[in-house]
Amino acid sequence: MTHKNRTFILAVSLLAVVAMLLTACVPPAAAPAGGAPAAPAGEQAAPAAGASKLEMFSWWTAGGEADGLNAMYEIYKAKYPNVEIINATVAGGAGTNAKAVLSTRLTGGDPPDSFQLHAGLEVEKYEPDKYLQPLDDLYASEGWDKVFPADLITLLKYEDHFWGVPVNIHRSNVMWYNKQVLADNGIEPPATWDEWFAAAETLKAAGIVPLVIGTKEGWEAGHTFETILAGVLGPEGYKGLWTGATPWTDAKVTEALEVFKKMMTYANTDYSALTWDGAAQYLIDGKGAMHIMGDWTDGWFTSKGYTEYGWAPVPQTQGTFVALSDSFAAAKGAPNQENLVNWLKVAGSKEGQEAFNPKKGSICARTDCDPALFNAYLQSAMTDWSQDAIVPSVAHGAAAYEKWATVYKDILTTFITQGDVAKAQADFQQACVDNGICK
Ligand code: GAL
Repeated sequence: MTHKNRTFILAVSLLAVVAMLLTACVPPAAAPAGGAPAAPAGEQAAPAAGASKLEMFSWWTAGGEADGLNAMYEIYKAKYPNVEIINATVAGGAGTNAKAVLSTRLTGGDPPDSFQLHAGLEVEKYEPDKYLQPLDDLYASEGWDKVFPADLITLLKYEDHFWGVPVNIHRSNVMWYNKQVLADNGIEPPATWDEWFAAAETLKAAGIVPLVIGTKEGWEAGHTFETILAGVLGPEGYKGLWTGATPWTDAKVTEALEVFKKMMTYANTDYSALTWDGAAQYLIDGKGAMHIMGDWTDGWFTSKGYTEYGWAPVPQTQGTFVALSDSFAAAKGAPNQENLVNWLKVAGSKEGQEAFNPKKGSICARTDCDPALFNAYLQSAMTDWSQDAIVPSVAHGAAAYEKWATVYKDILTTFITQGDVAKAQADFQQACVDNGICK
């Protein structure tokens, strides 16, 4: 675990700097900083009107992710049959649309009870001192500080408090492929970019789309590129991009942009009209060969009954695990406090995580889940998580503040239409400076 601790600590070291600029300010109505969000049932004032509801906000609408969430809801409903769950969703991968709606609800005084939040620097976007409940006492009473891996615990702490209960660990740097299509063309899953481009030529000549990608929602190019960066720069070089140790002017960044630009010449032509799952359909249909996407794709394939997919780390990222984690946060002023706390307990429980993750296509945040419940891909992810160098995803909230991550994604959206390597690289460096990370 030592190497993983080191890795996440890099991401979290940024938090310490900003923490000094912020003050913990908790209105009297809310739990004190570090306090549990609610006393157990029976020890607090009579529940307010509407206490028979629980509103949970997320962007999980696609197959796999919605199924996982439902599996956790089923556990909650069995325990609390009188509570009506309001499944508030705003579709859009990576929370593209949901995060904006959520911000408006929080600042407008209309919070859901609980909402999806990536572990890491994303929490800063929601001004936790104003809008979130610290969950430290719940962590202590549920024993979560002992059952979540130390490196994840480090990533979850912001301003020295816990703000979300992690339900999973996802991997971003996976290359999914249609096994039959590669086999028919005599291709082994490529391990380097040179091998990848050679395979792409063969596939193209055979009338198969080598790379399937959808960029409709504006985050997918950023997702793909973070995995290229991780491979070309290696784990230390990649992590340095988010701490300021690696300048964006580095020749390896140029190389990564060149790889991405060339790769896009092998993509499906309708990529700007497709979402991540729309693109993955190319693999199911046997029309496309390879797709770089997070392992929610495993859950999505499973939900479609598709089993003929293979997986490999994105070229040159063998031994590197680009990680992210979904957590559930507690809104300050949540309308249904007791139901909310019970929901967080289910989310953090072994039972909840064992029901959720096999469907979601992620591994448990907890260390005590039964591997036998998981398919072959997820078992391989468990092994890799335990031995790889762990680096934080920027496209999914772990590595950078939301503002910087958004600019990063926007630069890549422009890049895939313009293909201007020098401009993209200069824009990255400038944005890194503007966000106070690079000098
Ligand atoms: C990620 C999220 C995953 C999955 C994915 C696609 O940001 O962490 O759980 O939902 O987006 O929407």
